[in-house]
Amino acid sequence: MRIGFLGYGKIGKAVAAHVVERGDEVSFVQDPFVAEAGGIPIVTEADPELLAGTDLVVECAMASVLKDNFDAIIECCDLLCFSLTAFADESFLEHAKEAAQEHGHAIFVPHGAILGLDGIADGSQIIESISITTTKSPKSLGLNPADCTEAAVVFDGSTREACGAFPRNVNVHAAVALAGIGFDKTKSRIVADPSVSTNAHIIAVKGEGIEFEIHVSSFTTGGVTGIYTPLSACGSIDRTLGGAIGLAFV
Ligand SMILES: NC(=O)c1ccc[n+]([C@@H]2O[C@H](COP(=O)([O-])OP(=O)(O)OC[C@H]3O[C@@H](n4cnc5c(N)ncnc54)[C@H](O)[C@@H]3O)[C@@H](O)[C@H]2O)c1
Repeated sequence: MRIGFLGYGKIGKAVAAHVVERGDEVSFVQDPFVAEAGGIPIVTEADPELLAGTDLVVECAMASVLKDNFDAIIECCDLLCFSLTAFADESFLEHAKEAAQEHGHAIFVPHGAILGLDGIADGSQIIESISITTTKSPKSLGLNPADCTEAAVVFDGSTREACGAFPRNVNVHAAVALAGIGFDKTKSRIVADPSVSTNAHIIAVKGEGIEFEIHVSSFTTGGVTGIYTPLSACGSIDRTLGGAIGLAFV
């Protein structure tokens, strides 16, 4: 398989190395801020020729970049994307679903920083409420640490609004909204806590005869991505590309 990368930062580099380890090929890296990628062709904007020879693009840049490049990608190949807050824009989500259908390509939604997205999607018909509380340091949330000297709720509202307010920090909320009951019914709470060095998420799901609570916490290594996501991203690539041998968790 030939895999292209839109964005080559923390997630992109980890997944590209894993693709090579699997024996698959990295067909290109599209990232205007990258000068060297171990001999992999680097482009600054979508290249129709490279896309035509690619099976799957992994987007790991940011929501606006996903939106700008979506049409060029989905015309040619499947897409696995991490910047899921882009889909809080209802017209973009509708367009994305229609375009994927029209071109016969998939949009893969990885579980990313959390667990249980598949289970939430499976139960979506009987789920009545979902709330997510994310606790991160002010720095991780892009807030001025001087303004946040103790733990405080900095957002409480719908996931759609949260995606507008914190587009780089609530991809987990967007993933849950996509899998479950949508961006308006899913409730988001964001806590800025200067005493933490983790990204923590509590997802509470209730429905007809079901109640789940999922707690996930992952150490931060700087930036928006915790230590767990690059590992989970490699697992998602394996499940997307298939070819498992032996014990496989799907
Ligand atoms: N779904 C999830 O659970 C989850 C978890 C963690 C991170 N994320 C999201 O995944 C994305 C990547 O995360 P990361 O930690 O690898 O970020 P990162 O900051 O390490 O990397 C982002 C890369 O995008 C590149 N970029 C910037 N503008 C670009 C453009 N116009 N075209 C192409 N590339 C461009 C940057 O140069 C950088 O290399 C972010 O949107 C992040 O919020 C999602």
